[in-house]
Amino acid sequence: MDDRRLESLIHDTFNGRLSRRDVLRRAGTLGLSVPVVAALLAACGSSNTASTPTASTGAAGTTGTPAATAVAGTPAASAAATSAATTTPAATPAASPSASTGVAYTKDNPPSVANAAAAKQYSGQTITYYGDSVGIGHDLDVIVTGQFTKDTGINVKVIQHPQSSTDTYATYLRFFQAKSPDIDVMMLDVIWPGAFAPHLMDLSQAFASEKSQYYDTIITNNTVNGKLVAIPWFGDFGMLFYRTDLLQKYGFTSPPATWDDLENQARTIMTGEHGRNSNFWGFVFQGDAYEGLTCDALEWLASTGGGSIIQNGQVTLNNPNAIQILNQARSWVGTIAPRGVTSYLEEDARNVFQGGNAAFMRNWPYAYALANSADSPVNGKVDVAPLPASAGQPHVGTVGGWQLGVSAYSKVQAASIELVRYMASPEVESYRAQIGSFVPTIAAVAADPEVIKAEPFLQKLQSVTRVTRPSGETGANYNQVSTYFFQGVNQILNGANASQQVPQITQQIQRVVG
Ligand code: GLC
Repeated sequence: MDDRRLESLIHDTFNGRLSRRDVLRRAGTLGLSVPVVAALLAACGSSNTASTPTASTGAAGTTGTPAATAVAGTPAASAAATSAATTTPAATPAASPSASTGVAYTKDNPPSVANAAAAKQYSGQTITYYGDSVGIGHDLDVIVTGQFTKDTGINVKVIQHPQSSTDTYATYLRFFQAKSPDIDVMMLDVIWPGAFAPHLMDLSQAFASEKSQYYDTIITNNTVNGKLVAIPWFGDFGMLFYRTDLLQKYGFTSPPATWDDLENQARTIMTGEHGRNSNFWGFVFQGDAYEGLTCDALEWLASTGGGSIIQNGQVTLNNPNAIQILNQARSWVGTIAPRGVTSYLEEDARNVFQGGNAAFMRNWPYAYALANSADSPVNGKVDVAPLPASAGQPHVGTVGGWQLGVSAYSKVQAASIELVRYMASPEVESYRAQIGSFVPTIAAVAADPEVIKAEPFLQKLQSVTRVTRPSGETGANYNQVSTYFFQGVNQILNGANASQQVPQITQQIQRVVG
């Protein structure tokens, strides 16, 4: 940390010399943590009389509750100076609502392209971009790339990747093995840099000045043998969505703390609701044999003392706690969860939950904005909590997230870099957080009061332990490891006994990792 630059940032902020945008840019390059930046922004807001409250985007905040009101005279400086650790963001005063980019975005008005001047030299070229297919993701891709074309003259052909991350992996692998120039820019799952590095451009030079604005941990994840193969775009972690109205109706004062609590609450609510709606379920999650189930099952293990599949090179899966929770999960299928959950992806779970047909759902942050959007049947009746855990075990969420990369075989690499620069810019990350509740990968954006308002779960679930899949240590073998795991767990959900299945999965994985 550069003390002199930090001091000058604090000084300039308190003298009212900086706009919010300036504060965010400078804070980003210093790598300040979210609470510190929030404190600086609050100070900036109190000295910036020009900032006026802006209308809600209507997309994400939804409860109509304004972000916590700014506390006059808050010692933001000391918060900044004393470091993030002691400052809880929940208590951090939010500044008046115009923020990061000075804009509360609406869906159809994405940020303009700040790097348009540099990008225009590639006007007329066409980029093929493999983008989102889940939730509102594709709509936002179309809007954002439309803005890029308007400002730069570069065309973007947007193709939706398959909804399953596992199928997307297979699709890209075929392109890469053929050294195909038919894919230029693509979304990359957080678990893939190791496997796909040889087929991706090194972006370290092109992003030399932006690199420090992203969270270090994701930059490290995306750096393979010194090559920065992907730019962080949005983060993810597993959370428990629940129906606030139904918990209240059935007398539950808080969401379930343990998996047993979840079962009890789910069963009570389901039984009660069946009189009204025979399609109503207690709990939905991702149970298909694909990467999503690896994420869900890792949470079951890590929250019950069952470990995290591989630890220090050893496959640790074969243990009594893991067997116990996997059999417990099996018991949910056909009781509190529909039989069909064993072929559910993210969107299947969301459709049931958002349609008003489930009390609890495990899903990623993107589902928050959608569940609470104006046309959602459960708008205003949804909140999130940490996923359950056994007594004495941590509440956990699997780390997910997506990056943007450029193919080593692309014929329009320079134009592609400009597209990535725009799409992963603080402005577009803020837009996507506000409209789609995508979690920013830039601390300064996460501290934007508009973003905090749109994503209250960022603060609320801060203490949740983030668990990672073993992709770093297994590299190019990760997909095979995960495939053995999710296939075995899917068989358990479909009726196999974990005490027989787990030793077999363990052996298969052990053979891969050696
Ligand atoms: C989400 C996560 C990703 C994960 C996938 C599994 O998209 O961001 O990391 O692999 O879900 O379905």
